[in-house]
Amino acid sequence: QSKEYAEPEWYADIWLVVIWLVYFALYLRTLARRHEPHIYVANWYYMAFILVVAMLHIVNNLALPVSLRVAESFPIWSGVQDAMVQWWYGHNAVAFFLTAGFLGMLYYFLPVRSGRPIWSYRLSILSFWGIVFFYIWVGSHHLHYTALPYWVQTLGMTFSVMLLVPSWASAGNAIATLNGAWHKVRDDATLRFMFVAAVFYGLSTFEGSFMAIRPVNSLSHYTDWTVAHVHSGTLGWVAMIVFGAIYTLVPQLSGREAMAWPRAVEWHFWLAVGGTLVYIISMWNAGITQGLMWRTYDQHGALSYSFLQSVEAMAPYYLLRALGGAMILTGAVICALNCRATMRATPMTAEGADRPLGVQPAE
Ligand code: HEM
Ligand code: HEM
Repeated sequence: QSKEYAEPEWYADIWLVVIWLVYFALYLRTLARRHEPHIYVANWYYMAFILVVAMLHIVNNLALPVSLRVAESFPIWSGVQDAMVQWWYGHNAVAFFLTAGFLGMLYYFLPVRSGRPIWSYRLSILSFWGIVFFYIWVGSHHLHYTALPYWVQTLGMTFSVMLLVPSWASAGNAIATLNGAWHKVRDDATLRFMFVAAVFYGLSTFEGSFMAIRPVNSLSHYTDWTVAHVHSGTLGWVAMIVFGAIYTLVPQLSGREAMAWPRAVEWHFWLAVGGTLVYIISMWNAGITQGLMWRTYDQHGALSYSFLQSVEAMAPYYLLRALGGAMILTGAVICALNCRATMRATPMTAEGADRPLGVQPAE
């Protein structure tokens, strides 16, 4: 199927819905068995993640199979409507697949690890509803300067700028939670992963809102600037919060006080942050170089550079990206070995797994 991020054919799509419903049932069962009467905000984000991803997947993949014997099908959407549904799906995949669940992690693991309650619970609820409401409208910023009606593009652009408010509310809430725990951020690489994740969440959403403004998008679209933005979100924000969560959970599940090799966590932190910065800074340069080369004209009104020249100009940036990627990969391998060493040292026990997070085992 020729849809970005939605390639599987109809029979695989139906199978994915079945799997997703099983996942939802597991989530609801877990929620029903909770000891707290209140449902903490992290679970709201997980609920939004599961429900909205299901809705997006079903609507974007509505299709008529050619026959039951052939694997092919025709989408029920066509032309510009198809493009709009695809990017309504695509951008909400960013929001609910690549952000909502990770915000759930941030709201859970950051207070646990820093030993501080979330700075403003009320703000966390407000930003939840803000994100759920605003994100749904922004997909058309992927279709600037296309056949999509101009006012629909403007609507997407306007909502994208407004989206910065709830996004920064979450990032700010996380950073303000660390007030009074900055010494822990300095000493504990696991908490530092979470802090850096919150900072990158703020930076990548600022960049996204900026790139959604039509004239800015005329420069950034089709270039590696988009790739820089993607990875400041997926590496700087998503991967960092995941590493923070892994380093909190693995000792917990192994019934140990800390990771087997605490210094390796420190190494991983610097490799991950350094590699991500090398990656995105090289892609910013690559993207802006491409955008400017494609819009430079000579005195006769002809393009000054051929497309091939703009590809050749990318060589140093792509080499740098490979270096950044290698640093990130090395850090991830260290993380995997550290997890294995931690889990091997003490076999997982039921008591270890049941101990509430943040409570150290009795010696
Ligand atoms: C306020 C929040 C955000 C806004 C307004 C926003 C806006 C944008 C814009 C304008 C583009 C470029 C569209 C184009 O020219 O085709 C884009 C691309 C993208 N963004 Fe964001 N962004 C936000 C946050 C994020 C985050 C946090 C992530 C990841 C965790 C992310 C992942 C992506 C991806 C994967 C693409 C590339 C889509 C594609 O063309 O394949 N965005 N975003
Ligand atoms: C070592 C780390 C990583 C490296 C070296 C890397 C590299 C790349 C490369 C080379 C591309 C193709 C860019 C192009 O179209 O020219 C890409 C695209 C993409 N990557 Fe990564 N990546 C990494 C980690 C991740 C992670 C952890 C995620 C998600 C959590 C991710 C999500 C994406 C997405 C969504 C795209 C498509 C972007 C678009 O269509 O504009 N990447 N990545």
